[in-house]
Amino acid sequence: MPPLLEARHLRKVFRSGGQRLGASTETVAVGDFSLSIDAARPSFTTIAGESGSGKTTIARMLLGILAPSAGEVLYQGRDVHHLLKEERRQFRKDVQAIFQDPFEVYNPFYKIDHILTTPVRKFGLAASKADAYDKIREALRAVGLRPEETLGRYPHQLSGGQRQRITIARALLLEPKLIIADEPVSMVDASLRATILSTLHALYRDFGISFIYITHDLTTAYQVSENIVILFHGAVAEAGHTEKVIKDPQHPYTRELIHSIPVPEPGREWIDEAVEEKEVEDIEAEESAAGCRYVLRCPQAMDQCAVAPPFYRPEAERAVACFLHAESPVLKSGDLNEVFSAAADAQK
Ligand SMILES: Nc1ncnc2c1ncn2[C@@H]1O[C@H](COP(=O)(O)OP(=O)(O)O)[C@@H](O)[C@H]1O
Ligand SMILES: [Mg+2]
Repeated sequence: MPPLLEARHLRKVFRSGGQRLGASTETVAVGDFSLSIDAARPSFTTIAGESGSGKTTIARMLLGILAPSAGEVLYQGRDVHHLLKEERRQFRKDVQAIFQDPFEVYNPFYKIDHILTTPVRKFGLAASKADAYDKIREALRAVGLRPEETLGRYPHQLSGGQRQRITIARALLLEPKLIIADEPVSMVDASLRATILSTLHALYRDFGISFIYITHDLTTAYQVSENIVILFHGAVAEAGHTEKVIKDPQHPYTRELIHSIPVPEPGREWIDEAVEEKEVEDIEAEESAAGCRYVLRCPQAMDQCAVAPPFYRPEAERAVACFLHAESPVLKSGDLNEVFSAAADAQK
C-alpha cells in the first residue's frame, strides 16, 4: 500500500519583481522537503520554524493548492495535480486543512449550521436532514462544544476559540485520515491554546487521525506531537522524536531555538533581536547560499558548510542536517518517515 500522502523532494521558488532584466528576486521558500504519512500507522508530526521559514508553503503544496517548482506530492501513490475526478474527491475528504483564522473566508451572514451542513451535503455523508444533524452534534461534542450553544448562531457570536473548534468539527465530519493544521491556535487566546491542542491530540488518539501540526511555537509542539521537523529558511535542520529533539537538540539552529524559547507573549514569534536587525545583504547572501542555509548565523560554521549537508543519523530516531555529525550514517532516502518509524517502534 502506498502512503496516504507523500511529499517527494518538494521545492518552491517564488519569483517577484522582474520588470527589468535582472531586477527580479528569487525566494527559495522550500529547498528540498520529503515526508510521508502512512494511514495504517497514524502519527502526530509538528513542522516548526520561525516566521518565513516555509511552513505555510509546505502546507499548501501538501494540500495540492500550490504547485511545487520541483518534486511532487502523491496521494495514495498518485500525483495530487493529476487525480481523476473520483480520486480528487476522495483526497478532498481524506486530507483536511485547518488554518489560522478560517472565519476570514466564511460568509458572516450564514449561521454555523450552514458551515457544517455544506460539507455533509457536498460529500453525501448523511441519509437525511435528521441524520446530518445527528452527525453534526456528534462532531461538535467531539471537539468540546455544546451543540445547543453553537447551532443557530452566527460566527461573530462565538469566541475565537469556539470558532476554531467549529473548523475542527467541520474537518472531523468528513472522517479524514489526515488533518494539516497550520498555526491553528496562534489567533486564539493563550489561555485556550492548550485545551484546543488537547482536542486535536484526542482526535489522533481516539479516531486514529494523523496530524501535521504547523507552528512557530516549540512549547506547543512539545505538548502534542510525537515527531518534529525543525525548518530553517526552507531547509530541514533537524527531525526526529519530539522529546529527544527538544530535550537534547543536536543542530546548532535547534539549540538556538531552544535557548530563545519562552517569551509567553501572544503574537510574539521566535525572532531574536539580532535577526530582526540583520543587514539586507546578509539575508540576500543567505538566500543565495548553495550550502547550509544556517551558515551565516551558525556559531560552529566550518568551510564544509558551503555545500548543503545531507541528513546524518546519529541515532535511529533522529536526523540532523549538519556536518558536525559527519561520522554518523547518512539517511540515504532523505525520507524523514524512516526516522519517525524508528521513533514509533522505540516507544512500543
Ligand atoms: N506567494 C508568494 N510570493 C512570493 N513569496 C512568497 C509567497 N508566499 C510565501 N513567500 C515567501 O516564502 C517564504 C516562506 O513563506 P511561508 O511559507 O509563508 O513561511 P511561514 O509559513 O513559515 O511563515 C517567505 O520568505 C515568504 O515571503
Ligand atoms: Mg505561515
